[in-house]
Amino acid sequence: MNKKIFILGSGGHASVLVDILLQQQIAIAGIAGPGLKSLRKSLENIPCYQDSDLLSFKTEEILLINGIGSIPGNSLRFDVYKKFISLGYSFESVIASSAIVSPHAILASGVQVMQGAIIQAGAVIGENTIINTGVIVEHNCIIGSNNHLAPGVTLSGEVESKNNVHFGTGASVIQSIQIGNNSVIGAGATVTKNVDDNEILYPARATKKALK
Ligand SMILES: CC(C)(COP(=O)(O)OP(=O)(O)OC[C@H]1O[C@@H](n2cnc3c(N)ncnc32)[C@H](O)[C@@H]1OP(=O)(O)O)[C@@H](O)C(=O)NCCC(=O)NCCS
Repeated sequence: MNKKIFILGSGGHASVLVDILLQQQIAIAGIAGPGLKSLRKSLENIPCYQDSDLLSFKTEEILLINGIGSIPGNSLRFDVYKKFISLGYSFESVIASSAIVSPHAILASGVQVMQGAIIQAGAVIGENTIINTGVIVEHNCIIGSNNHLAPGVTLSGEVESKNNVHFGTGASVIQSIQIGNNSVIGAGATVTKNVDDNEILYPARATKKALK
């Protein structure tokens, strides 16, 4: 049976996912979210639903794609994912055609690999994790569930992260580093030491001074 595909959320992340799916000629049955009435231009031809409308479909009739974006301190993406999983629904993975994913990498359900990302051999990516635009995940990295590797992140080989980690835009991590649960790597940081659970790693900052 061909399952209907619904996207949860209607913001910027959802619009990038829609671009990827339409380029792959994957039909989108609808976009769902609380109080959705009208959608941004790139989504305007897709029917709108409330989250609650989806419950009228049997769990085996539909597949969900989590279109809710992820920023530090906001758990909405994970909360919605958990809610639908607990109701028995399944999340489809999305891999952009321009991404390169090794046949020796393992991606759990609901993983999203955006345009231009590269995932090398031996990498393992946990459920509901976003590998965003242009990210490099080198060989044998083990990434937990519900991580967000924001655009341009580079992980060297054998980096490991636990669950709910945010790697900020453009962060670079040297080989074999371990990152604890719920931690945040600031945008632009260079990580050379392990990060414990529940820590924020702030990058070095450029300072400015008026010329004399
Ligand atoms: C590291 C981070 C989590 C810090 O958040 P925060 O604790 O709320 O920090 P604040 O915004 O209060 O900023 C505190 C100071 O640090 C600076 N700062 C914050 N993040 C910084 C960063 N990544 N690089 C350099 N300086 C940074 C701020 O400019 C501010 O400086 P000021 O005190 O001189 O004004 C956050 O800024 C960050 O990098 N988030 C990642 C964003 C991201 O990846 N977005 C991708 C979306 S797809």
